[in-house]
Amino acid sequence: MRILGIESSCDETAAAVVDDGVSILSSVVASQLATHARYGGVVPELASREHLRAIVPVVRLALDEAKSSYSDLSAIAATIGPGLVGSLLVGLTFAKSLSFARGIPLIGVNHIEGHIHAAILDAPVEFPAVALIVSGGHTHLFEVNPGFSYRLIGKTRDDAAGEAFDKVGKLLGFGYPGGPVIDQLAPYGNPSAVKFTLAKMKGNTLDFSFSGLKTAVLRWTQARDLTAETQARKELLAAHPQPSTDEWLTVTPQTTRDVLASFQRTVIEELLRRAAVAAESIAARALIISGGVACNSGLRTAARNLHLPYPVYFPSPGLSTDNAAMIAAAAFPKLKRGEFTSFNAAASANLTLA
Ligand code: KG4
Ligand code: ZN
Repeated sequence: MRILGIESSCDETAAAVVDDGVSILSSVVASQLATHARYGGVVPELASREHLRAIVPVVRLALDEAKSSYSDLSAIAATIGPGLVGSLLVGLTFAKSLSFARGIPLIGVNHIEGHIHAAILDAPVEFPAVALIVSGGHTHLFEVNPGFSYRLIGKTRDDAAGEAFDKVGKLLGFGYPGGPVIDQLAPYGNPSAVKFTLAKMKGNTLDFSFSGLKTAVLRWTQARDLTAETQARKELLAAHPQPSTDEWLTVTPQTTRDVLASFQRTVIEELLRRAAVAAESIAARALIISGGVACNSGLRTAARNLHLPYPVYFPSPGLSTDNAAMIAAAAFPKLKRGEFTSFNAAASANLTLA
């Protein structure tokens, strides 16, 4: 049973065809990075316009690469929320129109549920599991039960983990998004050089907070004169949109490498210690870590080195950041249950999963 998935919640226009929820026949992602990079973050109005430009060719390419036509599709799945409402509307409206014109059922998918499915697309996950979803917009811990029912265990009270990476990256002149560059340079720094304190949470101790850490990095930079090196990085970025590790290192002195490594280590500790406590509290049989920050190599290594008594599932790197294969995969159990979405369903910027 083939499902065409469409994802447009933020700054990636994506379409994919997935067979039986596990077999990816195609996965096309058109990134808008170049459009937003010069503004230091996603500009919602520009994102909607870029989605409008990309949606038709991206869907066409996904069908072509999957050697599929509309008559091969059992459903069309589209992200219905959460995300930027103008961006969501482009993908959802396009999916509704296709569904109406071709008589193919529509399935609206929660973006966060998509990220969970990205990690377990073809993995034999046992339930209950804990899912840690870490991206630019979300830092959530869920209990995942058989039949894909969810219970929220903890979430960030301020910044998402990816947002903290992006703000620190921007502050130090590494451009947007900051996560991949910090990941690239952290191995060249001493992660114990700067002692950042871990957040103590009142109330639900499984909630997260990253704004204190972000402020601590800001204070660290304010206590030094980093004007020249930050300017050098901005100039490097202006000359090459994607500098190599060596190029970054030439404009990043050891003290700055150390603060990046220390920051990344603190984020990883915050994430993994709460995920491990959550997993223990529900006697989890698996831990799922997904979302853009799940690309982080330090996070992957640290999770492996914990030798937890249950398997830890990460998506393959291409499925960690936003894509449509995860949306099609998440729609498959709904298709089997006959859970379809009406044409009246509205895109929801703040849609929750549980
Ligand atoms: O899942 P995603 O593509 O979009 C959202 O739903 O937000 O996640 C994007 C986020 C950005 O904040 C980006 O900096 C972060 O994921 N990210 C990373 C890495 N790659 C992407 N953070 C840390 N290390 C990485 N390697
Ligand atoms: Zn996402």
